Amino acid sequence: MYNSKIIGLGHFVPENVVTNEELSKLMDTNDAWIQERTGIKERRWVKDSGDTTSSMGVKAAKVAIERAGIDKDDIDFIIFATLSPDMYFPGPGVQVQEALNIKTVGALDIRNQCSGFVYAISVADNFIKTGMYKNILVIGSELHSHGLDKTTRGRGVSVIFGDGAGAAILSREEDNTKGILSTHLHSQGEHAEELVLVAPGMGKRWVNDILADNDPNDESYFPHMNGQFVFKNAVVRFSEVIMEGLQKNNLKPENIDMLIPHQANLRISQFIQKKFQLSDDQVFNNIQKYGNTTAASIPIALTEAWEQGKIKSGDTVVLAAFGSGFTWGSVIIKWQ
Ligand code: ACO
Repeated sequence: MYNSKIIGLGHFVPENVVTNEELSKLMDTNDAWIQERTGIKERRWVKDSGDTTSSMGVKAAKVAIERAGIDKDDIDFIIFATLSPDMYFPGPGVQVQEALNIKTVGALDIRNQCSGFVYAISVADNFIKTGMYKNILVIGSELHSHGLDKTTRGRGVSVIFGDGAGAAILSREEDNTKGILSTHLHSQGEHAEELVLVAPGMGKRWVNDILADNDPNDESYFPHMNGQFVFKNAVVRFSEVIMEGLQKNNLKPENIDMLIPHQANLRISQFIQKKFQLSDDQVFNNIQKYGNTTAASIPIALTEAWEQGKIKSGDTVVLAAFGSGFTWGSVIIKWQ
């Protein structure tokens, strides 16, 4: 059995900055409410650049490949996590394969919302552990802004989400004490509709129904979130899955050098930080600048933390996510 390690990281965010002040011109909201509840000051929303989920993913991937020092043709497999694919099908993994002109390797799409990148890392890690693949490109990318309800009706959701992409190259590591030590995945489908986008979906509301009803009040194709319920579950599950990962590796919270939580809400990150008695240097947050970019939030944050020199060789790095499904998970890494 091998281990896997992250040998390259990259991210891309659209240029267009949307401040809370600008949102207050579109809907009944204000900077104080958004910052107090979420910590978000601004987010990036694709405007005129023509960027899509796949194109942002490709841009992040190019940086990660270059930093990894490998050739695109060294990539054996592609994994793409998103809840906002360019097309209903096929998913964006194959678009990346085409855009990067990578030979006909396999491409897998992951649909696990805010936990998508953690699930994707887990799949990649296990493919590498078994020796099936050597280098895997893992991408998390989201274009939320085109699908949000930007009226007062949708304000509880739309102020939170931002666009962006992050990518990592996972590569074979022969030393089992280094790289990704373990991954931990969970779900609880009974809460699927607490954070959901119903339509178009074959089971509940397909395009034909939407067109036939032609109802301007139809909210089924906008995301719906029971915010307080999600929040309460998030703080519990984040804590559990971080502890699960630490215990599996005989570690304690004080051994964490860098915790990168999914950037759902700064208040959730602060709750976890306090619970585990971590210092500001042990937790990385950038939701203030980007909002919640869902599957992209961990790779964007991981890339920025690494670029800022906050992750060093030998560090214990913990990734943790919670989101729609509900799904949640963690990754424990001994940075190589
Ligand atoms: N601006 C101003 N007022 C608002 C806004 C807004 N943007 N949004 C809602 N309000 C109002 C509501 O209408 C409500 O008014 P009322 O009391 O008159 O009815 C009041 O503010 C409180 O609304 P709540 O929804 O109860 O606000 P809450 O304190 O719960 O904060 C929030 C909402 C920020 C969404 C929070 O619940 C949260 O962060 N939840 C967790 C989100 C999360 O972790 N998601 C998981 C990942 S996402 C994924 O997987 C896709």
